[in-house]
Amino acid sequence: AAKMRVLGIETSCDETSVAIVEEGERVLSNIVASQVDLHARYGGIVPEVASRHHVERFIPVMCEALASAKTTLDDVGLIAVTNRPGLLGALLVGVSAAKALAMALRRPIVAVHHLEGHLYSAFLADNTLYERLPLVALIVSGGHTQLVWMEGYGRYALLGATRDDAAGEAFDKGARLLGLPYPGGPNLSKLAEGGDPSRISFPRGMISEGLDFSFSGLKTALRTFLEKDQGATSLADIAASYEAAIVDVLVAKLRRALQATGAKTACVVGGVAANRLLQRRMRAMAVEEGLHLVMPEPTLCTDNAAMIAAAGYWRYRTCGADALSFDTLATAPL
Ligand code: KG4
Repeated sequence: AAKMRVLGIETSCDETSVAIVEEGERVLSNIVASQVDLHARYGGIVPEVASRHHVERFIPVMCEALASAKTTLDDVGLIAVTNRPGLLGALLVGVSAAKALAMALRRPIVAVHHLEGHLYSAFLADNTLYERLPLVALIVSGGHTQLVWMEGYGRYALLGATRDDAAGEAFDKGARLLGLPYPGGPNLSKLAEGGDPSRISFPRGMISEGLDFSFSGLKTALRTFLEKDQGATSLADIAASYEAAIVDVLVAKLRRALQATGAKTACVVGGVAANRLLQRRMRAMAVEEGLHLVMPEPTLCTDNAAMIAAAGYWRYRTCGADALSFDTLATAPL
């Protein structure tokens, strides 16, 4: 039988993305139009600006995704779209387009949870993962920090989550305090490369308690440090020390979750998984613990539609299509 081509759509935040993925595994195209430069001058994402740009860019991005996959809408067998959680106005653009396409093409449609998409980025990166379940996933993005136990499609349990800021938010807020441009995470990480991570001992929030996270104390510690320091310490050393504090906590928590559950497979997904120090430290931990660890390449870690198509394929295989009347939600648990 011909392999099913899934058209994936992601517009939950500031990336307009459309992808074509064969079954749950082969990415034929994954086009991402980022609005980062548009929001940079506001120092953060402006929801209404994001929605308007999704409307402008959706059709060109979809055409590029079809062309670069050398395919047409006629060959699409399934439509998968992020419907939760995210900026409501941004989500509505992708959901409305997806429903119109499904109706006009008479194809099944599935509604995908954004974090489920992040989980499935690991399955795109490593097709052997299906045989290695259960796994523990660390989802670290700008809006979320969660440890998830996963046994199969739709079978998830939340092991821990942040009580305040997300890991990506800690990077972004730290960068802002250091005077770095938005988006802060990658900029802070670049600055940290030449610095000494042991120069300042920033707090490792909740590092030895349970599986929840807390990053707001770290941000406050940085602000207090900068006020007292008055420019005496090099910015590279401060950035490196700050980054090390976040990474130490993430590595320690994933290790504890694996030890608590006995899982031997793990993945780290979401925008922060693109962080080089985090990748190095996680790989070292995986060797020590004898784990199979998957950290997808950066283009699959940050928001993209290929991961939504992959999750959508498995949703369709497991639960069938969704009714065209499905809802769009700003907040929703995994
Ligand atoms: O997954 P994502 O693209 O969007 C959300 O769904 O939130 O994640 C974006 C987050 C931002 O907070 C960004 O600063 C962070 O991921 N990020 C990084 C790096 N690349 C992206 N943080 C640290 N180091 C990086 N290299």
